[in-house]
Amino acid sequence: MKNKILLLLVFVFISCKNESNKPQEENQVAQVPTIEKGLVLFQENNCAACHQPDQKVIGPSLQEIATIYKKEKGDIVAFLKQEAEPIVDPAMYESMKINLQVTKMMTDEELQSLELYLLSHSK
Ligand code: HEC
Repeated sequence: MKNKILLLLVFVFISCKNESNKPQEENQVAQVPTIEKGLVLFQENNCAACHQPDQKVIGPSLQEIATIYKKEKGDIVAFLKQEAEPIVDPAMYESMKINLQVTKMMTDEELQSLELYLLSHSK
């Protein structure tokens, strides 16, 4: 009987310990930019309405954006913060500019996720 209580106590102790470790781990995971998070942000913020993977709709395709940004070594994060000029289709910049009001408010981690997602479309 005593042994069982001891075991139970050890078990409770271990599970409490795990509990307290959790938030920190989740926090660390939350701060790593990933393509998957970029995809979710891209869909949630309606970017897909104007940007399709491989064809021009209103905005340039993701393939075109990725290819040009890689070739020109452009900085998508800076563009989305409205700190860099457009390099893909500057003549159409006015249609894109309004979206920068949204992306400007995002965290660096969110913008880096979007960048990873966009660049993943280069051929
Ligand atoms: C109303 C349509 C529209 C929406 C919505 C839209 N875009 Fe655009 N986007 C454009 C157009 C048009 C261009 C081409 C003009 C340009 O190159 O700036 C463009 C260009 C871009 C470029 C290339 C910029 C460059 O250097 O030329 C990026 C990156 C981009 N969009 C990302 C996004 C992201 C991320 C979102 C969602 C937050 C988004 N767009 C939402 C229309 C849109």
